[in-house]
Amino acid sequence: MGLGQHAPDYTRPDVNEKCLFAGPRNSATLDPARALTRWPGMTDETRKMRALVIGASGGIGAAVATALAARGAEVVGLSRSGDGLDVTDEASVAAHLGAQEGAFDLIFVATGALEIGGARPEKTIRDLTPGAMADQFALNCIGPAMVLKHGLALLPRDRRAVFAVLSARVGSIGDNRLGGWYAYRTAKAAVNQVVHSAAIELARTHSKAICVALHPGTVATEFTRDYLGRHPSVTPGEAADNLLSVIDGLTPEDTGGFRDWAGKAVVW
Ligand SMILES: NC(=O)c1ccc[n+]([C@@H]2O[C@H](COP(=O)([O-])OP(=O)(O)OC[C@H]3O[C@@H](n4cnc5c(N)ncnc54)[C@H](OP(=O)(O)O)[C@@H]3O)[C@@H](O)[C@H]2O)c1
Repeated sequence: MGLGQHAPDYTRPDVNEKCLFAGPRNSATLDPARALTRWPGMTDETRKMRALVIGASGGIGAAVATALAARGAEVVGLSRSGDGLDVTDEASVAAHLGAQEGAFDLIFVATGALEIGGARPEKTIRDLTPGAMADQFALNCIGPAMVLKHGLALLPRDRRAVFAVLSARVGSIGDNRLGGWYAYRTAKAAVNQVVHSAAIELARTHSKAICVALHPGTVATEFTRDYLGRHPSVTPGEAADNLLSVIDGLTPEDTGGFRDWAGKAVVW
């Protein structure tokens, strides 16, 4: 088991409901009234907040799903390893999202990779290959773009809803002082553009919706296993709490933005 790769603390029901997070085993200790009022703008306290986590098998995705379930939310988690959802395959995205019923208050996209097929982030442009760059685009840009394409219809029109995509600060052009990591940086910069454009389009039909790109901070997961060194990091659980706090505070005026784990705007 890699660094920070933790066994999620939820039970997975049987095959028919295998995507539905049953919540943490200690959910009996939660105060349901408090849990159900934890989603801003929710006026009907008899209704559970509904969340869809794409990439729920990953370090951050699993922690976000667990944290949401601990709040009393109904969480549907989808992943490649658990459910066969491959975000690089539009037909797979369309089938899995098309099978969802009802609206989601939150859609959280936590898929991604830094190394794909053994290709490590480039130290110099001499290391860059078309294949590695195409792979990065397929997973880190086209993947979330297809989830947006097929997932926006799952957002309610009549109430607050959030569509959050995990990007990365290294996708910021204005913040790039070190260079390198060409393919990953470029794919993240591109997904930021997709999120921004989708937010503009979404606002025309969903005035209360918020569509954002988020930087989770440096998080100890499988993703960073070979790269952390002595770099400070947070656990996936801490990252999930940070990200959900940011999401809680977002208003429709924030749609189309790029924010870090503390809620601070990141330069494009
Ligand atoms: N960790 C950090 O410090 C950090 C920093 C900045 C940004 N981020 C971003 O945060 C996101 C999540 O990172 P993480 O640390 O949680 O990574 P992780 O633990 O390695 O999880 C990656 C997730 O992506 C999924 N995935 C990979 N390829 C996929 C595909 N083709 N189709 C569907 N799912 C696929 C994996 O699914 P399976 O395991 O089921 O195959 C897994 O759920 C990424 O977008 C990353 O760029 C992370």
